[in-house]
Amino acid sequence: MTTGKKVSADGNKQTLRVLAGEALIGGALALFLASFAFAADTLPQPGQKIFLAKCAQCHGKDGKGLPNMAKVLKVDPAMINLTQNAAVTMTDDQIATTVTNGNKKMPKFKGKLTADQIQDTIKYLRTLQSAAGVK
Ligand code: HEC
Repeated sequence: MTTGKKVSADGNKQTLRVLAGEALIGGALALFLASFAFAADTLPQPGQKIFLAKCAQCHGKDGKGLPNMAKVLKVDPAMINLTQNAAVTMTDDQIATTVTNGNKKMPKFKGKLTADQIQDTIKYLRTLQSAAGVK
């Protein structure tokens, strides 16, 4: 029967469509898993937590400095923008020294953060600087 043939032809088409759908889902799943592996590799920065807790109230979550805080501290907003001030050209060791001992209105963190925590924070700061395109 001709109708029987037609049905089976449609059936094949449908099977193909299902297979294509599965391939798509498989691809999406692979992408999803890959993004997980990527996130696990790059996201959990120990320094991020410290930066948000100890630095962001002046320097901002993005490191660019909070204008209101600049007013309170009576400094030029550029001075607390860690993506454009000396912090960009300073070495990790120089930043660690500033964070440890303070500098003018920049508070010292000696006794509040360990040397390792300061290094982690600087590592995170570098990611903010590269996000801002300066490092
Ligand atoms: C109470 C506000 C405040 C907090 C909190 C703060 N800073 Fe600062 N920071 C400043 C000010 C103000 C300056 C500008 C100092 C200057 O040169 O007069 C500064 C400057 C800096 C500089 C530039 C280097 C320099 O000597 O000018 C770095 C790097 C820096 N801060 C890192 C940090 C890090 C990392 C943290 C957290 C651990 C932090 N700051 C917490 C206010 C703050």
